[in-house]
Amino acid sequence: MENIVRTKVKDLLKSEAGHDVLAKGWVRTKRGNKNVAFIALNDGSTINNIQIVVDKTQFEDCVLAKITTGACIGVCGSLVESMGSGQAVEIQAKEIEIYGECDPMRYPLQKKDTSFEYLRSVAHMRMRTNTFGAILRIRNQMAFAIHEYFHSKGFVYLNTPLITESDCEGAGQMFQVTTLNLEEALPRNKKGGIDYSSDFFGKQTSLTVSGQLEGELGATALGEIYTFGPTFRAENSNTPRHLAEFWMIEPEMAFYDIKDNMDLAEDFIKHLVEYALKNCYDDIKFLNDKYDPELIERLQSVIGTEFVRLEYTEGIRILEEAVKNGIKFEYPVYWGVDLQSEHERYLVEQHFKKPVILTGYPKEIKAFYMKQNEDGKTVRAMDILFPKIGEIIGGSEREASLEKLEARINELQMSRTNLEWYIDTRRFGSCPHSGFGLGFERLLLFVTGMSNIRDVIPFPRTPKNAEF
Ligand code: 4AD
Ligand code: MG
Repeated sequence: MENIVRTKVKDLLKSEAGHDVLAKGWVRTKRGNKNVAFIALNDGSTINNIQIVVDKTQFEDCVLAKITTGACIGVCGSLVESMGSGQAVEIQAKEIEIYGECDPMRYPLQKKDTSFEYLRSVAHMRMRTNTFGAILRIRNQMAFAIHEYFHSKGFVYLNTPLITESDCEGAGQMFQVTTLNLEEALPRNKKGGIDYSSDFFGKQTSLTVSGQLEGELGATALGEIYTFGPTFRAENSNTPRHLAEFWMIEPEMAFYDIKDNMDLAEDFIKHLVEYALKNCYDDIKFLNDKYDPELIERLQSVIGTEFVRLEYTEGIRILEEAVKNGIKFEYPVYWGVDLQSEHERYLVEQHFKKPVILTGYPKEIKAFYMKQNEDGKTVRAMDILFPKIGEIIGGSEREASLEKLEARINELQMSRTNLEWYIDTRRFGSCPHSGFGLGFERLLLFVTGMSNIRDVIPFPRTPKNAEF
């Protein structure tokens, strides 16, 4: 067997029949009759299986018995045109090697229960299912497409720190990082607070909620940068759209105003969806047919449509009008309120029936760094709202004026001691600039049609769950 080079299933399925091949993978199913067995073999390279035809008289019973769902095997045989429907080629087995048996009584994926909830409880195994194979291949393609997109535009990929002393979003949702011994009485300072001088970094530190502040340092030196990495939020929201550890893409561009920022975000997201349809069609088609018959249509419609650009104030007016007309929301609507997902989805799914870029939010509900509008009430924020998802992107033009930025920091009574380095961008050669953050898993929710964010990341971290 070892004198033939292994071919991946994806490539086998595209090969011409008429030669000997070696396939390796995991058994998805085995069926057949007294004389012949048909094995569906998958190696993760594609959603599709290669069919192995086994003449049972040529193999010992003890080998055949070990070929059960989940077992890992290598098969050498001739690639022939398939008589059956569903595949062009199949392998007529000559030699079979069992690499790893799989006890059907104990294999977690053997169970009848294939609900997403059950599969989350066996997340260490769920990648072996068709569904999670498809999702994770799409995830991989999307990551590649993101790097390629920015690379082609000359953006610099900037690696911002994961451990930080600043709270970019100012929401106080940070996971603390410490090596202080929590079993012992903590060292105290004169005021009775914790004395961090003996902690690892000599100060209080946390996992980052966003790489933006450091991204701005990069943009105001390199011109255009993007980050792509994990971010962490200790927000206790147990929803289908929130993770405690999620991946974010944050481009930051010097000399972009809010309109340039919106144009880039819209082009970026359309490019990604288009890329997915082109490069992950088999996997998307599988998800479309199995779970979400409107998925492909929804993806296509986003590429072909111009996103609505709407002022927050106008958005509130539309929502208030809807309430007047009898639409019931769980949360109240009034000018100044932070929109809930139900409001965002009403605008996108019911009212406009396409993605919406909402701008001009009240400054009170947005972070300190956003450019303040002349009215003194609103900021140049932009959130992109998507069907089925709600907010998929959050961003803004940044406040470039030192005076206004400092005033806002003081107004919010933020500690300046660990922000002076950031304020330096406005002190020394300040420039107009903008940026945004795309939640990678929110994008994947949209592209895969999955309805729970726990199902588009291999190992979800959510309140009370950090298994595997
Ligand atoms: O709107 P957010 O909080 O914005 C920022 O962090 C800015 N610093 C981005 C920037 O301007 N550079 O988060 C950005 C996006 C959201 O639109 C959403 O898609 C995603 O990150 N996101 C989450 N995704 C999963 N789980 C969570 N808990 C998320 N919180 C935000
Ligand atoms: Mg946001």
